[in-house]
Amino acid sequence: MTGTQRVTKAVIPAAGLGTRFLPATKASPKEMLPVVDKPAIQYVVEEAARAGLDDVLMVTGRNKRPLEDHFDRAVELEHTLELKGDKDKLSLVHEASELATIHYVRQGDPRGLGHAVLAAAQHVGDEPFAVLLGDDLIDARDPLLELMIEVQEREGGSVVALMEVPPESISLYGCAAVEEVEGDVWRVTDLIEKPPADEAPSNLAVIGRYVLSPTVFEVLRRTEPGRGGEIQLTDAICSLIASEPVHGVVFRGRRYDTGDRLDYLKAVVRLAADREDLGPPLLDWLQTWLPERRQQDAAAPPDGGAC
Ligand code: UTP
Repeated sequence: MTGTQRVTKAVIPAAGLGTRFLPATKASPKEMLPVVDKPAIQYVVEEAARAGLDDVLMVTGRNKRPLEDHFDRAVELEHTLELKGDKDKLSLVHEASELATIHYVRQGDPRGLGHAVLAAAQHVGDEPFAVLLGDDLIDARDPLLELMIEVQEREGGSVVALMEVPPESISLYGCAAVEEVEGDVWRVTDLIEKPPADEAPSNLAVIGRYVLSPTVFEVLRRTEPGRGGEIQLTDAICSLIASEPVHGVVFRGRRYDTGDRLDYLKAVVRLAADREDLGPPLLDWLQTWLPERRQQDAAAPPDGGAC
C-alpha cells in the first residue's frame, strides 16, 4: 500500500497547561519561552517550513494571544527599526511572520494531546498530515520530519518518530513494539503509553513528531480518556495498527524537550554554545565558573554539612 496524497499540512498542538513551568506559564504558553533568543515554537514552525509544510495549524488554548502576535506583523516595531536603519533586527522581526501561513484553532478544555489533534480535523480534511509538538525541538542540523514524510508517502498509513532511551526512562514515554523493516525504519506492532519499565516491549520511545493518516480523526472521536484522564494520541495510533500500516523512524540526532525545566536549561546552553556570537564567551565563562562553583560546594555543602 502506498500513500496517494502528499503531506502539505502541519498541526502544532500548543494548548497544554505547561504546569511544570509555573509560574512562567501562568499567562503565557510554555511554547513562547525563549530558547536563546527565539521562542521554542518558532524553531518548530521553521522545521515544518523546511520540510515543505507551509500550511500550519496551531492548536491553542486560553493564552493564545502571544502566539498569534509572534507570528503576525509588528507594524509599530518594524517602523521604529526602519527609522533607526536597523536592518538586522528588522529582518529578525520579519522572519517569524514570513515562515508559513498559520491558522489557529482553539482546543477549549485541554483534554490531552489526542483531543488537541482532533481539533484539527476540519482544517486537515481527508489528507495525511504532520503533527509537531510545540515544546519538542529537533535540531535543524538533524533532519527527521523529511524522512518521516518520505516513509508515509512510500508506505501509506501513519509514521511515528522513535528514540532509544535508557530502559529506566521508558515509563515517561509512549513505547513502541516493533519489527525491523529497513535500517532505522520499523513496522510498529503495538504502542503502550508510559509502561512500567518491566512491562515495556522495547526501549523505543515515541517523541513529538508524527505523520498521520486522516483515519486517526475517526478513531480519536471514539477514543475514551486513557492514562491521566486524557485522550491519548498514542492510544488512537495504536488502534490504527489493526487496519493500516504504522511505521516508526528511529531518530538518532539532537532533540530538546523544552517542556521540562532541566531539559529546557540544557537546550538553551547547548544551542547557545553552538552559536558563533554567544558560544565562545559562554564556554569561556562556563569553564571558569564551573570549577569555582564546585569549590564553593565543597567548602559549604548545600545541606550545611555534617555537624
Ligand atoms: P505535555 O504532555 O507536555 O503537557 O504536552 P502540558 O500540559 O503542555 O505540560 P505540563 O505537563 O502540564 O507541564 C505535550 C504537547 O501537547 C500539547 C502541549 O501544548 C505540548 O506542546 N497539548 C497537551 C495540547 O495542545 N493539549 C493538551 O490537552 C495537552
